[in-house]
Parts: sequence; structure tokens; C-alpha cells
Amino acid sequence: MNSSITRRELLARGAWGLGALAFMPRCAFSVQTASRMMTRPIPATNEALPVIGLGTYRVLDVQPDSSEYRELPGVLDALFAAGGSVIDSSPMYGRAEETAGELLAARNLRSKAFIATKVWTQGKQAGIAQMENSFRLLRTDRIDLMQIHNLVDWRTHLPTLRQWKEQGRIRYIGITHYTSSAYDAVEAALKAETFDFLQINFALDDRDAEKRILPLAKERGVAVLCNRPFGGGGLLGRLKDKPLPGWAGDVGAKSWAQLALKFVIAHPAITCAIPGTGKPANMADDAAAGSGALLNDAQKRELIADWAELLDDTSTHSRTLTRRAGDGDRTRMASLEG
Ligand SMILES: NC(=O)c1ccc[n+]([C@@H]2O[C@H](COP(=O)([O-])OP(=O)(O)OC[C@H]3O[C@@H](n4cnc5c(N)ncnc54)[C@H](OP(=O)(O)O)[C@@H]3O)[C@@H](O)[C@H]2O)c1
Repeated sequence: MNSSITRRELLARGAWGLGALAFMPRCAFSVQTASRMMTRPIPATNEALPVIGLGTYRVLDVQPDSSEYRELPGVLDALFAAGGSVIDSSPMYGRAEETAGELLAARNLRSKAFIATKVWTQGKQAGIAQMENSFRLLRTDRIDLMQIHNLVDWRTHLPTLRQWKEQGRIRYIGITHYTSSAYDAVEAALKAETFDFLQINFALDDRDAEKRILPLAKERGVAVLCNRPFGGGGLLGRLKDKPLPGWAGDVGAKSWAQLALKFVIAHPAITCAIPGTGKPANMADDAAAGSGALLNDAQKRELIADWAELLDDTSTHSRTLTRRAGDGDRTRMASLEG
């Protein structure tokens, strides 16, 4: 039964799905069969994408001889065992692309992964050089999703991305941002051009995107990767000692992380959430949010109400965490804000 669902999903992927079917190793079916993770269709092709992936900011920017690195094979195993496939990286994340390439190659997981990375520089030639380097670091000749990071010089990079998509070097094109101060620019880009994907910040404590950006993405047929689904992590720190709502078991949620992820994937515009984690147990926890029931509107409203209460209690702490999470990005981005 599950196998036939997987086959149906693959057939629904159209040409790319049939191509993938042709060279998909037999064992891919067993992983898919074992999983109950929900998928959402990418509007541009109807390809089914698992709803929980892995973000690599900071967590994969680690040296191979470190204790953090030794945890990472377990993180990937937890993602794939649950039926996940999306891994999001960027040349901005230090060693993350190289680490992802090493781990996928060592575990022979490339054919099962949906690799998303980014171009994050100014100028056509610099963009080409950076993306060529990403292919090398990720050890692949095809990148599933190439995104223009924080819209940096996006009009310059777009023709290269379109040409590479036609050539089959990349499968989908997207743009990203992580802060509501950029939503005017995001909105203008979404209206001006056709993109396959948008990656944007959306979380229980960071919901501005649902006002204009998520409805626009839905209207324009753009798939959405949700970044910072835990608001960078601060959200979970504040919720961790609080009791789960009484109905959490009804939606199969055993942790605040799962409820926070179920909150974002319940939005009809969201295709996949990409929490960052360097811990196998946390990846398993996060991935489990992709199965079971979605939150209904009453449950979402209740979580928001609970969150508002908590914010009042801890507003100073919250602002400090938010500022700290954003600063790394801003400092590294200083000369590259698009
Ligand atoms: N402009 C852009 O394009 C942009 C900007 C920001 C982010 N992103 C992407 O979005 C991804 C996600 O954002 P993020 O990593 O900044 O923030 P996030 O996913 O909101 O939060 C990550 C934090 O949550 C913790 N965490 C994860 N799962 C947990 C669990 N089950 N229980 C307890 N703690 C848990 C992680 O700690 P542990 O490691 O200890 O689990 C980490 O500190 C990034 O990695 C990146 O790929 C893109």
C-alpha cells in the first residue's frame, strides 16, 4: 500500500519524477515505504516534497574532527529515515555545503536528497564562480533548488539561473529572505518575475509573512520553504518548561518543537519547513512533526494566544535572542544586502 503511494507520488512528479524513478536505487523505496511524512506538491511541477527538511546554518559549519561533526551522520539518518529529503545550505554558511557534500557522499544519499543552496554575491561572474564551487562542494552535477540568498543582486543572477535550469544543471529557481523589513522587496520580486520557490521566515513567534507574502506566494504558484521555524531557536527556549496543550496528543505532537513545526506546515502556502539542528534526537523530533494530523484553526489560535502570554512574561529575553540570532546574518551580510 505504501509502495503504491510512493509510486503514485513519483508519477505525479512528471518528467523529473520519471527520471528519478529510472535511476532510483531499490533501497530508496524501503526508506520511502517506512515513512509516513506528509508531502506537498511543488506548484510548478506537482513534484511531491516532504514537509520537513534540514537547515544547515551554523549546524553544518563544523570541522570534520569535531564532536559536533560526529553527530551529523545521525542527523541525516534521522531525516531520511522519517521520509525527509530537503537539505538547505548556502555559501554564506561557512563549511556547511562541504559538510553536506561529504555526508551525502559517505552515506550514498545523494539520489534521495533534495539539495537546496544559494548564490550570495554580487556580479554575474562572481555568481557563476560561487555556484560552480557549490556544485564541487556538494559533490553533485545537479542542484535541485538554487536560490538567490537575501535577494542579493537578484536581477543579475536570474538569467544565469534560467540558463542553467534549461540545461538541467538546476531543477528549480528561488529567492530567499529572513526578515520582515525585506518584505516589500520580496513582494516586488515575486510580482515582477516567475520563481519556483520562495524561502522566507515564518514561525509561531514571527508571523508577519502570513499577511502579504504567503498569500502572494500561493496566488503566484510559488512553493515556500519556511526558514527559522523556531525563530532561530529562541522560541523553544521559552516554551520548553511549559506544559503542552491538552490536545497535543490528538495531532500526534510530543514536544514543543513538533507543535511549532505543525503550526507552520499547517499554513496552506508552506511546502516544507527547514529547521536547523545538529542533533540526531532533535532531527528525529522535528521530522516526526511531518506525520499525524495538521493543526486546525482553533488549535492555531490557541497556540498564538498562549504565545502572546509568554511574550509578555519574557519580552526582554525574547528581544535579546532575536537580536543575537539576526546579528550574525547582518554582520556577514554587511556589504551584500540586496
Ligand atoms: N536568508 C536565508 O536564506 C536564511 C536565513 C535564516 C535561515 N535560513 C535557513 O533556515 C534554516 C533554519 O533556520 P535557523 O537554523 O536559523 O533557525 P531555527 O531552525 O528556527 O532554529 C534552530 C535552532 O533550534 C534548535 N532546535 C532544532 N530542533 C530542535 C528540537 N527538536 N528541540 C530543541 N531545539 C531544537 C537548534 O538547536 P540544536 O542544534 O541544538 O538542535 C537550533 O539552535 C537555517 O539553518 C538555514 O538553512 C535561511
